[in-house]
Order: sequence, then C-alpha cells, then structure tokens
Amino acid sequence: MKENGMNIMRIRPKQGHVDTETADTLVLLHCEGEGLSAEDAAVLDRSLEGALRDLLHSKEFEGKANEVVLFHTHGKIPAKRLILVGLGKRDNAGLDQFRQAMGHAVKRVRGAKSRAFVVAFPSLTPRDASPLDVAQAMAEGAILGSYQFTAYRSDAPANNELTAMTVLISHNSDLGQISEGIRRGVATAEATVFVRDLSNHPSNVMTPTRIAHEAKTVAKETHIRLKILEQKDMERLGMGALLGVAKGSHEPPKFIILEYHGAKRKDERPVVLVGKTITFDTGGISLKPSENMEHMKADMTGGAEVLATIRAAARLKLPLNLISILPVAENMPGGRAMRPGDVVKTLSGKTVEVQNTDAEGRLILSDGLAYASRFKPAALIDIATLTGACVVALGQFAIGMFGTDTKLKDAIRQSGLRAGERVWEMPLWEEYFEQLRSDVADMRNIGGRGGGMITAALFLSKFVGDYPWVHLDIASTDWSERERAYIPKGPTGIGTRLLIQFLIDRSLVH
Ligand code: BES
Ligand code: MN
Ligand code: ZN
Repeated sequence: MKENGMNIMRIRPKQGHVDTETADTLVLLHCEGEGLSAEDAAVLDRSLEGALRDLLHSKEFEGKANEVVLFHTHGKIPAKRLILVGLGKRDNAGLDQFRQAMGHAVKRVRGAKSRAFVVAFPSLTPRDASPLDVAQAMAEGAILGSYQFTAYRSDAPANNELTAMTVLISHNSDLGQISEGIRRGVATAEATVFVRDLSNHPSNVMTPTRIAHEAKTVAKETHIRLKILEQKDMERLGMGALLGVAKGSHEPPKFIILEYHGAKRKDERPVVLVGKTITFDTGGISLKPSENMEHMKADMTGGAEVLATIRAAARLKLPLNLISILPVAENMPGGRAMRPGDVVKTLSGKTVEVQNTDAEGRLILSDGLAYASRFKPAALIDIATLTGACVVALGQFAIGMFGTDTKLKDAIRQSGLRAGERVWEMPLWEEYFEQLRSDVADMRNIGGRGGGMITAALFLSKFVGDYPWVHLDIASTDWSERERAYIPKGPTGIGTRLLIQFLIDRSLVH
C-alpha cells in the first residue's frame, strides 16, 4: 500500500526551439483558425515538410478548445512525437483554458506511454494575464490533470507516472517570470494533490489521529509551530460543541493549530484559516440515508485545505503571518452520542440546542471560530463542506461565499477568478436569524426549510468577533461526479488554489 499518492513531476523552464529540441514528446498549444501564423508552428511545419499544414487543411485538427491530436515525426525533427492541443479561439482563451489544455495534454502523453515531455510556451497571453500567470496555469493543469489515487489498488499500473515537463521558451526575456509562475503553479498544485490524497483515503485510515499525524509531518517539514489540543484540553477550555459532536465516536477528537510567521514583523496581525474537519459524517443519531454516504469521507476537505495552504505558504516563504485551525472529529451515532434536543455550551459561552446531529459542521466550526479570536485576525476565513443546500443552490461550479467585509470579499472573488475556483456571494442578512431561534437555548443548530446554506452561515457569524470574515461553503465543489480536464472523479481539492492565490495576491499588495 502506497501511503502518499503520486510523485509529482518535475517542471523546469528551458530556453530553446521546437524544431531543434530533443524530446520523447513535444506538446504544442494551438489556437483555432490561426493556420500556421504562430512562429513555432511555421518553423515546425517547414521541418515536417508540410505535415502540420496538411493536418489543419484536412480539418482533422482545427485547434478547437481541448481538441487533441498526436502524430509521429519519423525523425524529421528531434522530437519523436508531437501532440497538438487546441486552445479554442484566441479571444476566448482565458487562463483556465491553459489549465484545461495541459490537463488534456498530460493524459495524452501518459496514454502514449511517454514519461517526460516538452511543451512550447505559447506566444499568446490572455487579456489581464501575464506570462507568469500562463506558466502558473500550465503547471497547475499538468500536475492536476495527471493526478491519480491508487494507494489501495493492487492492480495499479506500475511506472505510469509522468516524471518531467520542460517548458520551452524561445525568448530568454521571459525566463524570470515563467520560472516564478512555475514555482507558484507547482506549489498550488502540490497543495491540491495533498488535499485530494487526504480526502481520498477512507475514514478507517484518515481518522482524527491520522489528521493530527499529517499536521505533525507538515510542521516538521516546514518548521512551523504546531499545537494539538486533546480531549482533556478541550474540556478544560469548554469546547462543548466540538466535544458534543465527537461523543458518538470511539475516535478521540483533536483541535489543531498551526502557525506560520513570514511577515517582517512577528506581531503583524495574521490571516486565520479555519477548516471543517469531520473525518466521517454519518449524521450521528440524525442518521443520513445510506445512498452516497461514502462521500462523507471527504467531509474533512476544509481542514485538509487549510493544512495544505499553510504548508504552501511556508514553502513559498510568503511574507505574511498565517494561522490554520482544524477542529477535528468523527460524527458517529454511538451509545454516548448527542441526542436531538441536547444543549451544548460552546467555547464562546453561547448555548446551542442541537435539534439535528447532522448539522455538526457548524458546531465544530463555532468552537474553531471562537478560538480564532485569540489571534486578533486581520482576516478570518473558514472553509467547509457545510450544507447539502449549497449543492442544491449552486451545483458544481461555484463555491458559496458569505462575509462581513466588502474588501475581503472582493479580494477572495478576484483570487477565485484567477485560480479558476470561483465563488458566488449569498446574503448574510440578520432577518434569517428568526429561523435559528430556540425555545431553550441561545439558538438552535438548524434553520428549518428554506435557505439552508444561508442559515448555516448566519449561525457561524454568531461566533465571529469583530474581524473581517469570509465563510466559504465548498459542499458544491469538493466532489466531482465525473472526470474533467484537470479535475478527477471524486475529491477535487477545490478551494485550495483559491486560498493560496488569495495569500499570494495579498502578499503582493501589502
Ligand atoms: N457534511 C454535510 C453537508 C454535505 C452534504 C456536504 C452533501 C457535501 C455533500 C453536513 O454536515 C450536513 O449534513 N448538513 C446537513 C444540515 C442539515 C441537517 C441542516 C444538510 O445539508 O443536510
Ligand atoms: Mn452532517
Ligand atoms: Zn458534515
């Protein structure tokens, strides 16, 4: 059994030319309807004695978005085979198109049993993007598109992992930008791969104790501070909500805090991330139906994302202070489990009537958010697979966003756009709070019919101090029903690149 998923291919930039570069496979990205106008294509076509022109004339390959064709070069150029991938029409080719094209490219490279390949850095740069952005997107698409999780398959094909990608640059002038783009792309993609692995492991392996172990590994590797609160510490502090959720399980809960100090001033106020980390969500006594319940092994995705994000921030040496908090528990219907109607006292002092034990995410987050106040965050962001209502409202392509601070929301929106992990804002209006009133406690943990994603967010808001705060509901995007260019079937890790991009963008501004 392989403990950690795949090895990640090495990506490096290199100055050179497509017609003289030796390669097992050479990948070219091509825009629709552009004939041989691109200089790379024209040069290659001469060496290939018109093969490219014939291909385009025959319309076997037109450069439509994500169209792929492979052919052998029979020694006419040093590259053994050529893969062309379409980018679609030049005006429509945004950054995400580069990710998708590279995702398709690597699948085809692997299909050809090739291990290492060269890709020509395209001369085209989309509007509002730089060569750095394009290089980053290409690295992301290549690594994420080749992702596979085979840890438990005894029939997994051996040695089918891609080992190296060379980005061929014709003018030396862009080398600095492209190297930096690759560095960032590798960091965001590596983080996403880490999240996908953690989410893919089944819950009998990825227990709260194992999550704590993963956090220890991250802390050791990156030399960041780690504190793990055990059950007795939580009792002492009064984390009644997290403890309540954990009661039905034999797995002891954990409360994990990681601290990275990268700012010039050690006392600069940090960005604080809080991630929902339920290693399995049965619903508890309010038991879930069995159909698709296995997806609930990924109910720890938010926590995995804040862990992966702090690892990436440390590896990139971002000049900011960052704290990641993971409240971790398993939601089970054991003999000591919470009952509907039980009242718990949260770390904030507020009491909650637990009318539905399946609304456990907001409970553990209430203690996580209250704890976050200790750090006086400059920005507080929580990320969670929080509600089925989010899936109903937004489908698969948007993360639900709520928040109290316009500037922070705008920054997240922008970083989401750049990362290709888009958010959509929902209302956080006080009127909805009437749905959360309880007859016996300060509030109840469900909001009844209607606006389920909103009442969950509003519940969380009651545990946030007076800090700029954003809540991201990733229940819509954390699991994909089908394989896409750079998104696998199953856990997607979506949200990770958004968070890291947000931190990168913030480091550049501040
Ligand atoms: N983890 C689930 C939310 C979820 C559902 C995530 C589907 C991903 C896919 C969460 O803990 C939950 O069970 N929420 C309940 C809340 C309800 C009881 C108010 C839900 O959405 O049904
Ligand atoms: Mn639940
Ligand atoms: Zn849950």
